[in-house]
Amino acid sequence: MESHSSTILAVLTLLVSLSAVSLASTNSCNFPAVFNFGDSNSDTGGLSAVFGQARSPHGESFFHGPAGRYCDGRLVIDFIAKSLGLPYLSAYLDSVGSNFTHGANFATAGSTIRPQNTTIQQSGFSPISLNVQYNEFYDFLPRSQVARNRGGVFAQLMPKAEDFSRALYTFDIGQNDLTAGLFLNMSVAQVKAFVPDVLDNFKDVVKYVHSQGGRFFWIHNTGPVGCLPYVLDRLPVLPSEVDRHGCATPFNELAQFFNRGLKHAVVQLRKELPSAAITYVDVYKAKFNLISQPQKHGVKEPIRACCGHGGKYNFNPHLGCGGKIKVHGKEILVGKSCKDPSVWVNWDGVHYTQAANKKIFDQIVDGSFSNPPVPLKMACHKHH
Ligand SMILES: *[C@@H]1O[C@H](CO)[C@@H](O)[C@H](O)[C@H]1NC(C)=O
Ligand SMILES: *[C@@H]1O[C@H](CO)[C@@H](O)[C@H](O)[C@H]1NC(C)=O
Ligand SMILES: *[C@@H]1O[C@H](CO)[C@@H](O)[C@H](O)[C@H]1NC(C)=O
Repeated sequence: MESHSSTILAVLTLLVSLSAVSLASTNSCNFPAVFNFGDSNSDTGGLSAVFGQARSPHGESFFHGPAGRYCDGRLVIDFIAKSLGLPYLSAYLDSVGSNFTHGANFATAGSTIRPQNTTIQQSGFSPISLNVQYNEFYDFLPRSQVARNRGGVFAQLMPKAEDFSRALYTFDIGQNDLTAGLFLNMSVAQVKAFVPDVLDNFKDVVKYVHSQGGRFFWIHNTGPVGCLPYVLDRLPVLPSEVDRHGCATPFNELAQFFNRGLKHAVVQLRKELPSAAITYVDVYKAKFNLISQPQKHGVKEPIRACCGHGGKYNFNPHLGCGGKIKVHGKEILVGKSCKDPSVWVNWDGVHYTQAANKKIFDQIVDGSFSNPPVPLKMACHKHH
């Protein structure tokens, strides 16, 4: 009898705790802000503010002009902000017209996790590496509150102090660490050898953000870099190393090697930061789906660049999207022939089109590409 009732009690306790878990997991987090760290995949104006605006026809499909994004329109981070009911993120480095009430974007195009030993003029990689982005965030935290406390318009431009611990911290960075090594003529094996150091640097920054009160992390892995024209054009591989979709297998394997390491780093971070909820998102898979199953996703051109000029991939590194060429004495804008970017995956040889970004976002938003499988708006709940 005694054991019977304790069994019933145990079952009841289990039921109560199970329903508590499912109740918690159905509650939306109501993130008041998003703070983003990354590269061009999520840059909403950082590099443009410092090194010159991304040229027209960037931005044409949505903003009807350049908008600091290397894309014809919106990025995945824009769709993330929108679906959370927040405005598009202002770039931290953009001092004109920015509004940080609901977050800030520290990403810049060309950013790497590790600082590079080259200038942007030499290599094209941004000096705003992830450690610098963290420095910016570290400074933004107290100074945004000093500004806010001045009241008036400043109070309507800066986040509330309590929002930092309730915000979602998003990361999309790592691709350029891999290409930086490859473009220095390192072998795939040599690049793999430094990946652990890159991931250690990444983990440090997540821990620093946590030490400043950040609790909810949404971490994108890196995409199939071997499917991008700027890599295919610059680093030709043997025909036997090209897969049936036209992607360079060694570089996609390198990206997946990085991603396995990143996933492992996330597992370690969860142990070291038990108060954090950290979601790892398989953006690689969402991107590769568009390229490997084009018809299913309404794609007509999976690999070639829409806004480009010439060559096998409609990509010429010396005549990029928005550049000017002379044909029969007439000046023509590179990208003018890109009439319908909505059926192309690749925009300018390096970045995805707005249509592709929306399709990537639609795949990841419900958590089906995430570990743990939590939807975006519930990424404050721990399931590990
Ligand atoms: C830059 O140079 C320093 C000193 O030689 C080295 O420790 C570091 O790994 C280099 N960084 C990169 C990204 O190669
Ligand atoms: C900044 O954005 C917030 C949210 O959209 C808005 O309420 C606020 O008025 C904006 N600030 C200014 C100065 O326009
Ligand atoms: C890499 O190799 C190519 C082809 O041999 C060469 O043109 C280029 O200068 C090399 N780049 C670096 C950074 O060494």
